[in-house]
Amino acid sequence: MSSAPDSSLAAVVRTSQGDYRALVGRGLIAHLGDEARDAGLKGKAFLIADEAVFRSCVRPVQESMEAAGFETHVLVLQSGETTKNLDKIKDIYAWLARLRAERQDVVLALGGGVMGDAAGFAAATYRRGVPFIQVPTTLASMVDASLGGKVAVNLPEGKNLVGAFHQPKLVLSDLDTLKTLPDREMAAGWAEAIKHGLILDADLLNTFETEADRLFGLQDDLAVEVIRKSVAIKAEVVSADEFETGDTRVLLNYGHTIGHALEAVSEYGQFLHGEAVSIGMMGAARICRDLGLISDELIDRQRAVLERYNLPTSAPGMDVDAVFEATKSDKKSAGGAIRWVVLEGSGQSSTRRDVPDDVVRSAIESLVG
Ligand SMILES: NC(=O)c1ccc[n+]([C@@H]2O[C@H](COP(=O)([O-])OP(=O)(O)OC[C@H]3O[C@@H](n4cnc5c(N)ncnc54)[C@H](O)[C@@H]3O)[C@@H](O)[C@H]2O)c1
Ligand SMILES: [Zn+2]
Repeated sequence: MSSAPDSSLAAVVRTSQGDYRALVGRGLIAHLGDEARDAGLKGKAFLIADEAVFRSCVRPVQESMEAAGFETHVLVLQSGETTKNLDKIKDIYAWLARLRAERQDVVLALGGGVMGDAAGFAAATYRRGVPFIQVPTTLASMVDASLGGKVAVNLPEGKNLVGAFHQPKLVLSDLDTLKTLPDREMAAGWAEAIKHGLILDADLLNTFETEADRLFGLQDDLAVEVIRKSVAIKAEVVSADEFETGDTRVLLNYGHTIGHALEAVSEYGQFLHGEAVSIGMMGAARICRDLGLISDELIDRQRAVLERYNLPTSAPGMDVDAVFEATKSDKKSAGGAIRWVVLEGSGQSSTRRDVPDDVVRSAIESLVG
């Protein structure tokens, strides 16, 4: 085989741990092994895969790596958030140690954000860090979780409480892997991609609005271009603000303050993350309108585009007080005041700490009624 076509390069992510390529296209897994070589990797490959993609993806990934000379071992893990815990990480360490994984060998995550976070955390810590490749197989992880080097596991006390910044050496998103992804998961991924348009790219938002029919089923090349664009936006943001110490990376949290609150109050059982973010973006837009930052028209546009991608825009029956209280424990509330990401127009965003409680409460009321 050969390296991936030049046109598949969505972005080069620039970080203090090195730069890496983010590729988006179809049929890319066939080029994975050569891309890994081009990224300077060698040795053995330790493939950690979600059981949901075992039948469809593991074999092609293994063949691609082996054709490029990587002796490849496979560990299949259970699907779902419960895999992101320290017991599972211990199992991964034991597997790596048993197979004598060395510092230059590579860990490869194949699956959604759960696999990326768990395998990535193991890679960040085993032997004080080994190289790592992301092959995301959910739309959400392609446009979001696989990029930027955040890896983590959950504690009983909370999500993502133990983690690291460990940048991958390569992120390869092959849209062919999405053929088996359930519709709800697909929609949840669109929520994060649409968010990128809303906060930073008016043209991308327009494309989501006008080309929904073409994008939805992923049949045509426009879908590849749009996902590539969304990946490029995330890549640019994390390159500009690697450790989320500036004012850029936080913008990706648009819709997440209320979204996280909805997830927590419903004990993570009711909404997929992207669904909660979709509803949270409606709450955030309402806040922006009440602050005089945007018009009703933009709220209506946002609602229409989210609904067009089968995303929920309200949360009937949720307890207003519980959701309101939960927004206060959002992890972005450094120093007491919540840092709200606000829209100032289509594709324009910033943050505000001075959002009055009554504005927040009435936005939440508008979602649950
Ligand atoms: N590191 C980051 O920056 C970051 C950002 C956002 C989210 N996350 C984390 O990512 C996780 C969520 O990731 P996700 O939304 O990708 O969910 P996920 O990894 O749980 O995948 C969603 C579901 O789809 C299944 N699946 C995955 N690929 C499939 C395919 N191709 N075909 C059929 N089924 C498939 C999985 O088994 C799972 O049931 C959370 O743990 C979250 O904390 C991390
Ligand atoms: Zn998110």
